[in-house]
Amino acid sequence: MPEYTNILTETRGRVATITLHRPEALNALSPALVRELIDAAQAFDADPGIGCIVLTGSEKAFAAGADIKEMAERSFSEMYLGELFPSWSGFEQLRTPVIAAVGGFALGGGCELAMMCDFIIAADTAKFGQPEINLGVLPGFGGSQRLPRAIGKAKAAEMILTGRMMGAEEAERSGLVARVVPAAELLAEAAKTAEAIASKSLPALYAAKEALQVAQESTLAEGLRFERRAFAAAFATEDQKEGMRAFAEKRAPGFTHR
Ligand code: CAA
Repeated sequence: MPEYTNILTETRGRVATITLHRPEALNALSPALVRELIDAAQAFDADPGIGCIVLTGSEKAFAAGADIKEMAERSFSEMYLGELFPSWSGFEQLRTPVIAAVGGFALGGGCELAMMCDFIIAADTAKFGQPEINLGVLPGFGGSQRLPRAIGKAKAAEMILTGRMMGAEEAERSGLVARVVPAAELLAEAAKTAEAIASKSLPALYAAKEALQVAQESTLAEGLRFERRAFAAAFATEDQKEGMRAFAEKRAPGFTHR
C-alpha cells in the first residue's frame, strides 16, 4: 500500500480495514481523502487474499460529509465537470463485500458513503442525516437515490427536506442499518462479521453481491433472470462442489476460492 495521509489501512487474515482519518475535520470527505479511499479499496479489491473490507471512521464521526470548506467557492462547471471529486464509480464497482462500521456522525456524504457499502453496522452512538438542505444544496453522493430505496420515500423525504438527524435505533428500525451494537464493541463486531464473510467462497460472495446490486437497480423479472444464470454459474466453481460435499460429509468446507 502507498503512503496515505487521510486514511489508515490494515490487513488481518482475509479482512482489510480502511479507517477514515482526518480527525481535525470529523473525517470530512475532501477530494484527497476520497482519492485515497478509492485507491486503497480498489487495491484490496484486486487482491484475492482479501474476502471482506471494513470501512470505518472514529468514535466521534464516521464522516461529517463532503468537505464544505473545499466546496464553498466552487463554480457549477467545476462541480458538474467533476473537477473536484473523483467519480464514485470506482468504489461502487468494488466486487469484494464492504461493511460500513459507523460510530458517531454519518452526515451528508458520510451517510451516502455508508450507503454505498453492502451493509452498515452502527454503534448505538451513530447519527445519520442528510443536512445538505441547510447549506442551500441537496445530497450529491447518491443520497437522494439510495436513502429512499433504503428507508422508503416518506422517511427519506422528511430527512432530506428537513435535514434532521436519525439515531442508531431509528436507523435500524427503518432498515438503513443491519445491526446496532454498543459503541465499545463496534470494531470487534464488524471484524467478527467480516471474518465470517471472508471465510466463504470468494466467487460466491462476488455473485451474491452482484445479485443484491441488481435487485437495487432493475425490475423483479430482470433480477430473477440474473439470479437464475448466476446460480447456475456457481455450479462451475470448485467451491460449489466442496461446499455441497462438505455438507453431505458433515464437515466444514475448505473453500479454495476457485
Ligand atoms: N466539512 C468541512 N469541515 C467540517 C465538516 C465538513 N463537512 N464537518 C465538520 N467539519 C470541521 C469543523 O469545521 C470543525 O473545524 P474547526 O475546528 O477548524 O472549526 C471541526 O470539523 C469540528 O467540527 P465542529 O466544531 O462543528 O464539531 P461539533 O461537534 O460542534 O459539530 C457536527 C459536529 C454537527 C457534525 C458539525 O460539524 C456539522 O454540522 N458538520 C457539517 C455536517 C454537514 O453539513 N454535512 C454535509 C456536508 S455537504 C455534503 O456532504 C454534500 C454531499 O452530499 C456531497
